[in-house]
Amino acid sequence: MRSRRWMLLSSLMLMAIAWAVTANVQPEPAQPASTQAQEQCADCHSEVAEPFKQNAHAGLNCSQCHPNALAHQNAEDPTQVLPVVDFRSETCGSCHKFQYETYMTSEPGTAGEFGGTPADPKEHPKTKDFPLYNKIVAGHGFTREYNEERSHRYILRDHIDIKRGKNLACLNCKSTQVAYYWGKEWKGLELTNDGDVVAKWQEAINRIPKEMQDYGASCAHCHNPHTAQLQIINKGLQNAIERYGVNPYWKERNVKSFARADKQQKEILVCAQCHVEYVCGPGADKKARFEFSWRKVRDLEEYYKQRHAYQQDWIHDIIKEPLVKSQHPEVETFWESKYERAGASCVTCHMPKVAVGGRWLTSHWLVSPLRYMDKYIKGEKLGAYPCAQCHNVAPETLREQVLRVQRHVNEAQKRVQQALSDSIDAIAAAKQAKAEGKTVNEENLQKAVRLHQQAHVRWENLVVSENSMGFHNPEEVMKELNEALDYARQAQMLATQAVR
Ligand code: HEC
Ligand code: HEC
Ligand code: HEC
Ligand code: HEC
Ligand code: HEC
Ligand code: HEC
Ligand code: HEC
Repeated sequence: MRSRRWMLLSSLMLMAIAWAVTANVQPEPAQPASTQAQEQCADCHSEVAEPFKQNAHAGLNCSQCHPNALAHQNAEDPTQVLPVVDFRSETCGSCHKFQYETYMTSEPGTAGEFGGTPADPKEHPKTKDFPLYNKIVAGHGFTREYNEERSHRYILRDHIDIKRGKNLACLNCKSTQVAYYWGKEWKGLELTNDGDVVAKWQEAINRIPKEMQDYGASCAHCHNPHTAQLQIINKGLQNAIERYGVNPYWKERNVKSFARADKQQKEILVCAQCHVEYVCGPGADKKARFEFSWRKVRDLEEYYKQRHAYQQDWIHDIIKEPLVKSQHPEVETFWESKYERAGASCVTCHMPKVAVGGRWLTSHWLVSPLRYMDKYIKGEKLGAYPCAQCHNVAPETLREQVLRVQRHVNEAQKRVQQALSDSIDAIAAAKQAKAEGKTVNEENLQKAVRLHQQAHVRWENLVVSENSMGFHNPEEVMKELNEALDYARQAQMLATQAVR
């Protein structure tokens, strides 16, 4: 079997298979039976081959996604001829045309007043929605450039192009290879937080195939290619689940593994690989981390104090105190919401089922639901009205109601934004007075700083970093903003009084 002649023959056959895969647009197993007969992968890879046989991909050959696998199998020493591990979405797309095409669609358009997909991210800097943002996060990298997000089609491209600092850990949400091999070696590169994570970032980018330099995160981020079932590959999430369970805010349903989670939870967890708060890269203490807190905003600070002595993010440039810089906590915000309790997952509203040639398929466009609704109202391609499962009102009416909720939240957040700016001024003035030798009530100043931190994390996490302007959980966001306003005004008052 392991002769030279076989290797030549098998590479000819592989060329034929590669063509068959490209030409095949419908999901039907193109299976040259002779290749399957030759494959003896199960001898050494039973942990992959057994579940493979019992699921939807059973009809495929391993070689369809691992092109030189027969050469590997037939080699004297299989470790000397390692098969290609193909992460490109194009490969899956050759059989799953609809899912691939919708995933790769990035039609620009504005949905609500606070979301949408800008044609060019520079068109919509976050400071347009939050004019005082750069003062409130002064000194943080996000002041250099921070834009409204675009669709999944540009996950890696927009990360490469953005002006602020980058490090290897960021790529856990931008590259499926980095997430999959995190903690291990990949193409000769150690994918860990040890050493120069900035240089490693460039090294990793150089290793990502050209076709993937825009979308970066491919189908295998959510789908196990062998079982065709949902999977999670992000180590930050896997560790968080191991420690705290799949949802620490729903005790009765908080199982300890992805495998045991139900459908709704799985459909939230695949998104939780990226749409969460985490610490990533060097903090104020220069220590590089990659870790999920897996906490709601109300519990975040306590957690960071205990675990990272509040050094996980950065020191504010004006008040010279550590603050929390959140990522994009859609999942934590969604927990405890009325939608979660009514059985919805992220997939319900952002990946609606649509009829395609007589089958119900999952749309992978992954944009604002309002954009699906707009197209549905106009009867256009990609249109859907997923809300109809629970609401029996016209889409036009529900659309207006979404905006009403968001506008309320926006009015509330504007007041907090102003209050945070004022409390920064008051704390800075008190510190300045102290530096000039004036008497300052230290206890009150410390209290003011503490209150400012509590106000800051709520506003920054729930309305700037979270991307739905309160929609995912309006009750919680309004309550936290209400507290934030109180904390910030108290901080301002205490800092002002500290000087007298
Ligand atoms: C004689 C045993 C043997 C057979 C048969 C075999 N493999 Fe392997 N395979 C290995 C070993 C050993 C490794 C290396 C594992 C490692 O380095 O961690 C490996 C690695 C791999 C990898 C990982 C490559 C990488 O870069 O990490 C893939 C994919 C793979 N094999 C697929 C296949 C497929 C598909 C077949 C059937 C066509 C097959 N193997 C047949 C022993 C085998
Ligand atoms: C539909 C495409 C596809 C098919 C068919 C397929 N694989 Fe894979 N395989 C992948 C991808 C993509 C990865 C890496 C991502 C992942 O596993 O989630 C992978 C990973 C692997 C790995 C682990 C490699 C590593 O370095 O971790 C092994 C081993 C492997 N495949 C063996 C097989 C065997 C054996 C078969 C046939 C029984 C097979 N594959 C069929 C796409 C496929
Ligand atoms: C050579 C064709 C082919 C390739 C390549 C391929 N698939 Fe499939 N896939 C199929 C077929 C056939 C089915 C079963 C019939 C169906 O669901 O339409 C299937 C089913 C699925 C399903 C549904 C599973 C279920 O139980 O309902 C998912 C999800 C899936 N594939 C994901 C992927 C991903 C991800 C990749 C790339 C890693 C991939 N497929 C590559 C042919 C392919
Ligand atoms: C691998 C990481 C990753 C996973 C997994 C992921 N996302 Fe995203 N998502 C992102 C990034 C990064 C962006 C911003 C992309 C950009 O601006 O280029 C984004 C953007 C979005 C957007 C905004 C699109 C637009 O056009 O403005 C929506 C909606 C979204 N994701 C929903 C989801 C849902 C729902 C899931 C789970 C089914 C999910 N995402 C899973 C990383 C991810
Ligand atoms: C009940 C429906 C619903 C559910 C469930 C839902 N969302 Fe949303 N999502 C929305 C709406 C409505 C918006 C606001 C869209 C707008 O402003 O245009 C939104 C906005 C977003 C955005 C910003 C989109 C943009 O274009 O700026 C992201 C990202 C997002 N959601 C991710 C998620 C994730 C992740 C989950 C699961 C934890 C989730 N959503 C669950 C309805 C939902
Ligand atoms: C962010 C996570 C995510 C990514 C990335 C992703 N999918 Fe899916 N996919 C899902 C979810 C969730 C479902 C619905 C599963 C369910 O109904 O339980 C799904 C369903 C599917 C199905 C089953 C048939 C259907 O339409 O319901 C196929 C096939 C599929 N995806 C292919 C792909 C391909 C091909 C890619 C890459 C181009 C891809 N997916 C990328 C999350 C993802
Ligand atoms: C799984 C069920 C479910 C789905 C799907 C769902 N909703 Fe809801 N929605 C609810 C529940 C429950 C409430 C609260 C009770 C009520 O107002 O009827 C609600 C309330 C609302 C409200 C009023 C909120 C407020 O605070 O005033 C709006 C607006 C809304 N939903 C929009 C949407 C949109 C848009 C979609 C689709 C993108 C959607 N919903 C999908 C269950 C759902």
